[in-house]
Amino acid sequence: MSVLRRYLDHNATCPPLDSVLAAMDKAAIHAFGNPSSLHWAGRAARQILDDAREEFATFIGAESGAIVFTSGGTEANNLAIHGWCSAQKPGRVITSAIEHPSILRPLECLETAGWEIIRLRPDKNGVVSAEDVVANINENTRLVALMAANNETGAIQPVAEVGAICREQGTAFLVDAVQALGKTDIDVREWNADFVSLSAHKIGGPRGVGALMVRRGLKINELTPGGGQERKRRSGTENVPGIAGFAAALGKVDFTALEPLRDGFEQKLHERLPDATVFSENVSRTANTSMFCVPGMEGETLLMQLDLAGFAVASGSACSSGEREPSHVLLAMGTTREQSRSSLRVSFGPSSTMDDAVALVDELVRIRERLMSMAGAL
Ligand SMILES: Cc1ncc(COP(=O)(O)O)c(C=O)c1O
Repeated sequence: MSVLRRYLDHNATCPPLDSVLAAMDKAAIHAFGNPSSLHWAGRAARQILDDAREEFATFIGAESGAIVFTSGGTEANNLAIHGWCSAQKPGRVITSAIEHPSILRPLECLETAGWEIIRLRPDKNGVVSAEDVVANINENTRLVALMAANNETGAIQPVAEVGAICREQGTAFLVDAVQALGKTDIDVREWNADFVSLSAHKIGGPRGVGALMVRRGLKINELTPGGGQERKRRSGTENVPGIAGFAAALGKVDFTALEPLRDGFEQKLHERLPDATVFSENVSRTANTSMFCVPGMEGETLLMQLDLAGFAVASGSACSSGEREPSHVLLAMGTTREQSRSSLRVSFGPSSTMDDAVALVDELVRIRERLMSMAGAL
């Protein structure tokens, strides 16, 4: 008997929307030219890029020349960090301990090269304090990098407060807004952001496409020297169908409308599994995200059992050198290794229903009963 498949991992990737696939198809077929070519075929492709650049800029409150298209959020973060820092004298970078690896890893590279990296810990709710940023800015600080919303817990970070401080101190400010797009309002002027990273596949666009907003007047070194595309900030022929798909996805999924679903899920979870803990439950979170742990159950085991029952969810652990590592986000929040290991993340999307949420809780209860009876604990 085939199981009903329920996809509840939209923070990992949100399935592409039909309108996105249609826009990509159209761009691939009818705008096949190289956007750098001067002839009609090139101009058709260039038009798609120009229009998309304008749409993104308007959407986030930037100037159109500020948008650099990339291969995703990871490249956007790397371009901001290495592109900016390689044009500065070595100094200090302030970030948080809960950033995505695409921020943490490039900063480790800078650290190896002699830079000082300050990784601020969040409070127990997973929120970084703007005061901590102020306390750590000194005359050697070249960059502050903070995510707008955390990918695991959904916790919203105080980017507008931090941006105001950075602007006052004359420190460059990078916001990783990959998980905020479609989930919170983005206004780069309000954030006083100098760099903002975005990714298409978190909002129903294609995988492998993203953008970096670079505030006008700031100079970054390109990481892929070549033909000088994207105003010499990111060489390489642009992914025109991908960018067309990204633009088609912009503003289409309203993740904020998913709050009643997420809250309904958590209410059911607390009713049926009273010892479950929801992380960042009492702070402002992205409305589609719920990260929780069920004591005594390994997240990985749960994930596999849920997979067999048709549910696609994420566990809080990450694989490194074949070992399952507990989530660095939960550890930084002061959660025990055991709790971190038993955590799961559910992230709802446009096709999710209350039936999915209720069925997931029912399945969790069933799995727990089964595992406990197998262990002879019942
Ligand atoms: C907060 C955050 N930043 C950056 C990225 C990387 O984006 P991409 O998958 O487009 O490289 C992700 C992806 O999960 C993310 O959640």
